[in-house]
Amino acid sequence: MTVTKLIKKGYNILLDSGFVENSVCKRLNQIEGSIDYNQKCTLILGSTGAIGLQVVNNIVASVVGPSKHVDLNDCQTTLILIKRKDTFLGESLYAINEYNVFFEEITRQIINIELKHPAMVIHSSFISKRKTCSKVVSVYEIIYPDSSNWSTIFKTWRNNINNLCLPDYKKLTGLVSCLGTTKSKLKHDNLGYKGKIASQRNVDYELNFSLIKAVSNASLKIILLTSFNSYTLGSSVPYFKNKLDLEKDVSSKLEFAKIFIVRPGPYVFCSFNYEIFEKYALNGSLDYRSFMSQIIAYNFYKTHVSKFFGYCVQSYDVSKAIELALFSIDDDKHSNHIVYIQSKNM
Ligand SMILES: NC(=O)c1ccc[n+]([C@@H]2O[C@H](COP(=O)([O-])OP(=O)(O)OC[C@H]3O[C@@H](n4cnc5c(N)ncnc54)[C@H](OP(=O)(O)O)[C@@H]3O)[C@@H](O)[C@H]2O)c1
Repeated sequence: MTVTKLIKKGYNILLDSGFVENSVCKRLNQIEGSIDYNQKCTLILGSTGAIGLQVVNNIVASVVGPSKHVDLNDCQTTLILIKRKDTFLGESLYAINEYNVFFEEITRQIINIELKHPAMVIHSSFISKRKTCSKVVSVYEIIYPDSSNWSTIFKTWRNNINNLCLPDYKKLTGLVSCLGTTKSKLKHDNLGYKGKIASQRNVDYELNFSLIKAVSNASLKIILLTSFNSYTLGSSVPYFKNKLDLEKDVSSKLEFAKIFIVRPGPYVFCSFNYEIFEKYALNGSLDYRSFMSQIIAYNFYKTHVSKFFGYCVQSYDVSKAIELALFSIDDDKHSNHIVYIQSKNM
């Protein structure tokens, strides 16, 4: 065996995420041709995060916005978002709807609800301005500050106690989880190393799993955003172990019609190194993890070094991959139940 082959084999065992998978990866362009947004109802966890918000924006843009991707005359899509605080969705949608040219908001209804804490559901509907078609995106935003109670909310919704005025649970067709600790403020908390690791697991694994479990059923499709991984990372670094445990438990302990596991490398958000410094290092305190991840992503994107970090990828490609997987039509009865999507597949 040559030295190159030996290095390659060593790399595969230690770092390549393919090593911990048991299903073949599919290239995303294979499913791009057939996607259907109509009559779909999707619950999105982590919709206020960098990727989650892009997923929401992409879906709205694809259905009622300028995108030429969807060529359906009539289309009705529903999104259900759950948030800890009211982040005005309209503001982020403004970026893709400048001067109000592509779509308009036709309803905005705010419903205050009495739960353990004051809660609110904002229901907005957006329609395309193209008069020849009737396309509607309906968005329900549940605002409830205590996320440890979200699974109880989902359980009551599932049991037909619909005090949240949401669409019927039985109409739910998809679940996306982009929930995680990337921009988490754990570093500000006085937790100590062990406390921070436990806190990270509470979100990345415990909260995520309990929410997914609360809504799971055998006819639902799930798109789970985790991270690139490897045998070495997954067995020694807590962050990667959490991601791996979540993937394993969602795949083996819960029932889903189809499971897409999205495993990107570090993703590129910023356009300049200075922007990364400004955002993550110069604003009072250093957000070390996000800073390093952004420096690596931006500087190694499309270089040979990129593969050592699970291949750096543009954040837009990650959110687009999630959208395509979510609305892809799967006619092939023999296709894999679990599909892994890595940076290389996006
Ligand atoms: N950054 C990278 O390069 C990279 C690469 C590969 C994989 N990933 C993974 O991709 C996922 C999404 O990344 P991202 O950059 O979009 O993350 P992000 O911007 O930090 O968003 C995380 C989302 O999770 C929510 N969340 C966090 N803690 C919560 C809690 N205790 N209760 C309820 N919601 C909570 C956040 O809500 P709030 O807005 O309320 O905080 C936010 O919506 C993460 O799991 C991350 O590990 C990241």
